[in-house]
Amino acid sequence: MSFLIINTLPFFMKNSYALITGASSGIGLEIAKSLAKRNYNIVLTARRQELLKKITKELISTYGVEADYISCDLMDPNAPGELYAFCKQKGYQVDLLVNNAGYAIPTAFENTTMEDEEKFIRVLGISVIALCKLFIKDMLSKGKGRIMIISSVAAFAPPSAIQTLYGPIKTFMNRFSESLNINYNHKGITSTAVCPGYTITNFHTSSGVQKQMDDVPNFMKKDAVRVAEAAVQATFKGKRTSVPSKTFKIIVFLLKIIPPSFFLLVSSVLAPGRYDKK
Ligand SMILES: NC(=O)c1ccc[n+]([C@@H]2O[C@H](COP(=O)([O-])OP(=O)(O)OC[C@H]3O[C@@H](n4cnc5c(N)ncnc54)[C@H](OP(=O)(O)O)[C@@H]3O)[C@@H](O)[C@H]2O)c1
Repeated sequence: MSFLIINTLPFFMKNSYALITGASSGIGLEIAKSLAKRNYNIVLTARRQELLKKITKELISTYGVEADYISCDLMDPNAPGELYAFCKQKGYQVDLLVNNAGYAIPTAFENTTMEDEEKFIRVLGISVIALCKLFIKDMLSKGKGRIMIISSVAAFAPPSAIQTLYGPIKTFMNRFSESLNINYNHKGITSTAVCPGYTITNFHTSSGVQKQMDDVPNFMKKDAVRVAEAAVQATFKGKRTSVPSKTFKIIVFLLKIIPPSFFLLVSSVLAPGRYDKK
């Protein structure tokens, strides 16, 4: 019964929306479809405006929901404020905030600039905190709200030689999400950190690490539709942390109990390039 109420609620509340960052492709796009299927109205955001426009039209025609988009670059410190102002001005009440946008820097730490790292931390970390800070006040005033943060299995693994800050920022996001969940749960707001493993999306091509992905065995490559579905279900259940797929649940369990040196050895066979010295 509660499942039915949760899934049909936005249909009756005309102005109730899910805001999804990184909705132009991959996991974010599949989350948008999964939520639209459940009658959620959607606000999509990412940088590629034409793609957002096309996806918005598709969501409206396929699922009969309200949908809108706003193009923005989360590297820009003003972007979270602009997203919030857009929703306010349009009268969209964001009851579900999906922080999904992300990428990786395919360069050894010593060769990136500080600006590269700052932009990276802004997209994967600071913008997430800023959006939660802006939208949580409205959620608190209504006594309900759900936050999803797309983290990664990398949050549990030893950080790799390239993408030095990717794992650490995802660990930070897990802890941040956990803090929100613990402290706001009794006020009707949950936050769920979703930690996918290797997922087939544009991520590896657009981040310049497709070669790494190609070397990963197929059984470790997951489908974005299933990852998104698991993410949505975990968020509706108000889970603190969720690892989609049995394979990666086992890997995360092992990561918590085996010595890092052993993990690096296994990883050099299953995911070569991740820790190899370049
Ligand atoms: N794929 C995997 O194996 C995997 C595994 C674990 C976790 N994840 C996480 O899953 C999330 C989604 O990634 P994905 O795999 O779905 O990759 P994807 O297909 O490349 O999607 C990334 C999304 O983020 C958006 N984005 C990137 N930089 C942005 C910026 N500066 N400002 C605004 N939007 C930006 C992209 O849109 P635009 O280019 O249009 O801006 C795109 O919509 C990320 O947080 C990633 O860390 C992925």
